[in-house]
Amino acid sequence: MKIGILTGGGDCPGLNPVIRAVVRTAVSLNDEVLGIRNGWKGLVDNEMGPLDATAVSGILHRGGTILGTSRTNPYKNESALAKAKANFKKLDALIAVGGEDTLGVAAKLFKDGLKVVGVPKTIDNDLSGTDFTFGFDTAVNIAMEAIDRLHSTAESHRRIMVVEVMGRHAGWIALHSGIAGGADLILIPEVPIKMSEVTDAIKRRTGRGKNFSIIVVAEGAKFEGGEITLEKKLDDFGHVRLGGIGELLGKKIEELTGFETRVTVLGHIQRGGSATAFDRMLGTRFGEKAVRLVHEGRFGQMVALKANEMVSIPIETAVGKLKTVDQAFYQMARTFFG
Ligand code: F6P
Repeated sequence: MKIGILTGGGDCPGLNPVIRAVVRTAVSLNDEVLGIRNGWKGLVDNEMGPLDATAVSGILHRGGTILGTSRTNPYKNESALAKAKANFKKLDALIAVGGEDTLGVAAKLFKDGLKVVGVPKTIDNDLSGTDFTFGFDTAVNIAMEAIDRLHSTAESHRRIMVVEVMGRHAGWIALHSGIAGGADLILIPEVPIKMSEVTDAIKRRTGRGKNFSIIVVAEGAKFEGGEITLEKKLDDFGHVRLGGIGELLGKKIEELTGFETRVTVLGHIQRGGSATAFDRMLGTRFGEKAVRLVHEGRFGQMVALKANEMVSIPIETAVGKLKTVDQAFYQMARTFFG
């Protein structure tokens, strides 16, 4: 069998472990693997080449993706879609590794009759049907370490430190890193920011003799008026470039509390570098399972982690509704604010 593999959307620690696992499993089953460069763009432009065990040797610990990635959406343009479908004929099946956008394209191709299997990837952990996506654990650990480090400098200077982390629609990174790092307040896209809650948390701390605070805010968090963006230009999937909420929040905190405030934007540091053991393991299990699904002819499915078991669910279900933070979980986190 000829199996293609591509990685699309924002890169993510754990992509190389997936690619390695797909190739190693496929080779053990006497399949050929074709690596498609730069996500869906490579399928449109026919940029693909063989991947064997040697090609994936030594990549397990490496960040990024050896295949490259893009945010190309072949459904935006009829001739691109026709080219992608024509090139697909060179494959018996395709494994698409990506988040809601890349897998959204995979779901459409499957509907159009093509043999696609999905692997969930995003540091944001916002895909439904899987307990975790790989990359999330790494991002959380990076953000937690940053919060740990900011504690000592915040305390020395008696400052408020605002840490802006990634999370476009969902506050999973903010919540997990904030709870693990002992943040004094965590602000997420799912719950509009109320400045009274921010200042109350800071006041509660000063009441206990603590004259510094750490506030974690997800990039997608918003005041009533809507999300804060760096630029309005849309990508192929209609997303704006987020950013700026940390700065805005920092200014408001300084005005309202008189505390000197500093803002740290972690940005792509959360996505770069090698994956944690958890993400390497998850990526490896996902990659192996994806090849098994291809062999079982279970197309249109995405591999998923449920209660530590490898299962599969329809790709359409995974991308149909994003997995956001529920109120009960956020309420639990509130116990530790201020
Ligand atoms: O989708 C994951 C994500 O990390 C989002 O949280 C973020 O908004 C986006 O990627 C930024 O990606 P880029 O700068 O690569 O477009």
